[in-house]
Amino acid sequence: MEGSTLKKYPFKPLSTYREYPIGEMRARLEEFYESVNRRRTVREFSGRVVPRDIIENALRAAGTAPSGANLQPWHFVVVSGAETKKRIREAAEVEEREFYEHRATPEWLAALEPLGTDSNKPFLETAPYLIAVFLQKYGRLPDGRKVKHYYPVESTGLASGLLITALHQAGLVCLTHTPSPMRFLNELLDRPLSERPFLLLVTGYPADDAKVPDIERKPLEEFTSFVED
Ligand SMILES: Cc1cc2nc3c(=O)[nH]c(=O)nc-3n(C[C@H](O)[C@H](O)[C@H](O)COP(=O)(O)O)c2cc1C
Repeated sequence: MEGSTLKKYPFKPLSTYREYPIGEMRARLEEFYESVNRRRTVREFSGRVVPRDIIENALRAAGTAPSGANLQPWHFVVVSGAETKKRIREAAEVEEREFYEHRATPEWLAALEPLGTDSNKPFLETAPYLIAVFLQKYGRLPDGRKVKHYYPVESTGLASGLLITALHQAGLVCLTHTPSPMRFLNELLDRPLSERPFLLLVTGYPADDAKVPDIERKPLEEFTSFVED
């Protein structure tokens, strides 16, 4: 945005902050870790209905994510209509077939092999919700001027992480799906080209007999270092 000075926000006391005694801090984190450690990506969904207010509240949680310059550069499209889900499935499977048969490098296919994924995506029609996450490269002021967004990838990633965690907290499951490329989502969901499809979160209850790959998570020591001097 050119030649404009944004007004400084009024400042207010940090009344939302809560401090906990150390013991309670530990207990809260233990409980939180126990919960998020049970989250798994699911690829077999039940068609069971999920009330829309549950999804709305999970999205509210996602909308609390920090973002570069507080520009909140994301948009979520919640799809529950059978016709649109079918169109998304058809378009995604076209891209996925192209990916598995031609575009994917041998290394990429080798990395996917243990997960057993393929170009068939029935869950795009079975699951009650497809939440398409869009990243906004820039926003618009009411007078139409462009506002550059800072760190939109990082910000939208954080909002998506919160959304996945919120859905898990509610007892739902999701699949972080990234048919590549995903531009077809702009057309099918009528989103402007200034928005980049970021993720398609397939959301609902797991199928009764859902199975997940028996993967392992790196232990803390393997992905963390501490610098204490
Ligand atoms: C950015 C991103 C893209 C992903 N894309 C796909 C995908 O297109 N299809 C799929 O089946 N899983 C996809 N996944 C899910 C991962 O395979 C999954 O998170 C990983 O195997 C770890 O399993 P977990 O989520 O159960 O811990 C994606 C995950 C992320 C974070």
